[in-house]
Amino acid sequence: MSKKRKITKHKIYGSTINTSRPKRRKGRLRVDRIIMVLSIFILIIFSLKLIPYITYNNKIYNTIIKSNDKSVVINKKYNKLKLYNKTINYIKKKKIKIIIKDKKYKVSILPNNIKRKMDISIDTYSRKLSYSNFNKTKSYIIENVDKFESVTVKLPKYLSNKKVVDIYGVKDNKVKGLNLGLKLKNDKVTFKTGDFDKYFITYIKVDKITVKNMTVNIDDVIKIDIKYTPSNATIKDIEYINIGDIFMLNENNELIAKKEGTSYIKIKHKADNIQKKVKIKVISKKNNIEVRDGLTYIDGILIVNKTYRLPKDYDPGKLNEDALNAFYEMRKDAAKDNITLWIQSGYRSYSTQSDLYENYVKKDGKEKSDTYSARPGHSEHQTGLAMDLNIIDSSFEGTKEAIWIAKNSYKYGFIIRYPKEKENITGYKYEPWHIRYLGKEIAKKVYDSGLTLEEYLHIDSKYSE
Ligand code: DAL
Ligand code: ZN
Repeated sequence: MSKKRKITKHKIYGSTINTSRPKRRKGRLRVDRIIMVLSIFILIIFSLKLIPYITYNNKIYNTIIKSNDKSVVINKKYNKLKLYNKTINYIKKKKIKIIIKDKKYKVSILPNNIKRKMDISIDTYSRKLSYSNFNKTKSYIIENVDKFESVTVKLPKYLSNKKVVDIYGVKDNKVKGLNLGLKLKNDKVTFKTGDFDKYFITYIKVDKITVKNMTVNIDDVIKIDIKYTPSNATIKDIEYINIGDIFMLNENNELIAKKEGTSYIKIKHKADNIQKKVKIKVISKKNNIEVRDGLTYIDGILIVNKTYRLPKDYDPGKLNEDALNAFYEMRKDAAKDNITLWIQSGYRSYSTQSDLYENYVKKDGKEKSDTYSARPGHSEHQTGLAMDLNIIDSSFEGTKEAIWIAKNSYKYGFIIRYPKEKENITGYKYEPWHIRYLGKEIAKKVYDSGLTLEEYLHIDSKYSE
């Protein structure tokens, strides 16, 4: 074939050509062909890639112009979106909100944010933050999200293994905490966006914790002053390991000093695996005992129990005014929680208490009576600072009123004077109804300590005979 064509061409040109020429032509022809085939091949690939985009873009355009709604939902096909100018113009003119959704997530794009080429993946990308207070922390950025809308984001591995994350918003290049310490659900986090341009989701690890040595009093609730570096660490939580025998933990898991001495307490930041020792010196608090007109004040608190009595003629005649006003305040707030409180027994004179006690003794004998009733001169009711609320009976225990009183009365200056399982200390059985007014400051301290008034003041409650 090639020989034939060579001859034909010779004829057309009709020239005298040397023998090497056809050889060169043959070679050139081959290169031309390869280039041509390759070009066609590339063109086909390019077209094949372009066709779906064009189709998708056409579909978007058609969906938008056919819809009368202010927001149009489009199924997500690609992470990047290229829109026709005519589509963009239409969206802007009609102020249409575009919601692009896949099976799990959606991105809403407001008309002003529409661009020709857009990244529409909701979990956009991870990168290091350059904001100074984040110290190049790696974070997950999301952009193009509608304002004030709930979004769920699937987190990348370096965040999905955390329990909580922080979400910050950025506007005008300023960073603001939006949702700090937000809990993860499996590997996802759901939050409400705000008025921001973009959001970053991050976990800031504690690099260092610094603690100061402390000196505390016996029975003090110890608040260890911990400084975290960086100060915007996501988790600022420690737990005590090894508290030794000088300290104990109360019901709220707070540390309380029990004995004099010096001890090191080991604390641990579990989430970021950092440990630290803090030296705490416990000193004993010397009580200031004062007896005025036969009344005993310990650290300024009027004390009446089995050990400390009141004179027979001590007779304020009625409930203390501050205590009564505190009760009214408490009753008002309790009512807001649908709790009705009333004073069943308030002030009791020496002689009233005497009659009461004698009747109990007749009925139950002295020994038993002493477990629930004070002897005359030994009742707090004689001070006008104590009151029995609602029902003076063991059936009151566990009622919603009793639970409310136990939980809230300290806020108004009262303590439950005879708590459960403290009979050996207070000298009396549990009385969920009997509250004693101490004033807000002292009541909170006693409540926080988890101790009875006797333990708090290091005194006892025992009759001498
Ligand atoms: N029920 C208490 C102890 C009192 O009689 O004062
Ligand atoms: Zn009482």
